[in-house]
Amino acid sequence: MFGGLIYTMTSKNLSVNIGGVTMKNPVMTASGTFGYGKEFESFVDLNRLGGIIVKGLSLSPSKGNAPPRIIETPCGMLNAIGLENIGIEGFIAEKLPFLKTIATPVFVNIYGTTIEEYAKLAARIDSVESIAGMEVNISCPNVKAGGIAFGVDCRAASEVVASVRKKTSKPLMVKLSPNVTDIVEIAKSVEAAGADSISLINTITGMLIDIETRRPKLANITGGLSGPAIKPVALRMVWQVARAVNVPVIGIGGIFTAEDALEFLIAGATAVQVGTANFVNPGATVEILDGIERYLEKYQMDDIIELIGSLKF
Ligand SMILES: Cc1cc2nc3c(=O)[nH]c(=O)nc-3n(C[C@H](O)[C@H](O)[C@H](O)COP(=O)(O)O)c2cc1C
Repeated sequence: MFGGLIYTMTSKNLSVNIGGVTMKNPVMTASGTFGYGKEFESFVDLNRLGGIIVKGLSLSPSKGNAPPRIIETPCGMLNAIGLENIGIEGFIAEKLPFLKTIATPVFVNIYGTTIEEYAKLAARIDSVESIAGMEVNISCPNVKAGGIAFGVDCRAASEVVASVRKKTSKPLMVKLSPNVTDIVEIAKSVEAAGADSISLINTITGMLIDIETRRPKLANITGGLSGPAIKPVALRMVWQVARAVNVPVIGIGGIFTAEDALEFLIAGATAVQVGTANFVNPGATVEILDGIERYLEKYQMDDIIELIGSLKF
């Protein structure tokens, strides 16, 4: 309520359009770090957010990996949750009714282990009016291709996106994995296959070892690194991709403060997603939003568009 009041008092235009979805501001939540939204309602006025992206969903519920599956690292965390989720039908029946009461667009993050699974998820989501769009996570192993992630191969990435595109007219955001040699190549492939926007980055694969037992610290052996440690890598990739594609880019990776978010916007991101920061400071999203507003005041910009991609060389 109080937060909503602050928002309506600003004279600045923070609204952005990300591939067919108009948002009141560019601050979104990153999948897997904000539950299904309701978990954060006592910390954040959910109506103030630009967009909510829920935990990645699969066709059937999944328990994810065995513990230990989260470890703190210097300046970040390593996770191998393994995409635990309640399944698309559980989400629609149990979580969506609450999200419908919020004036913020909801994006459903989806993943599959075959192209057919992605297509089925897309078709199901397409039939649900209250879902604004979907974010396709292509960082998962393609079981038919021996486990190699869809998102590390241009052909596999574009096949997934094309199959999802055929099943939906809803705005389609495709989330890239940073664990590739050439991020620009992958971004161009998914754009050509029909992505309306591109979000990046997902976590960077890493590992940790307990030297007393000489065992991996994660039961899964490897996990995904997130948090401030990955910000410079994410920022570099967002800058490269934003220059190379014509669809809006959404920046993700180590965004903890308004200054972090501003760097991504200046680099060319039209919006940002806040991830690991939510675990440290559950109010991070709205604090970031307030800081962006203050920056626009300070530099006398009336519209966030003046800032996006304004990097000087
Ligand atoms: C605990 C945890 C769970 C995550 N789950 C998902 C997921 O289900 N789907 C997805 O696309 N990304 C997932 N991610 C990746 C984040 O959305 C984000 O891309 C990544 O953590 C980098 O941003 P950050 O440094 O701000 O956290 C997860 C990250 C964490 C830390």
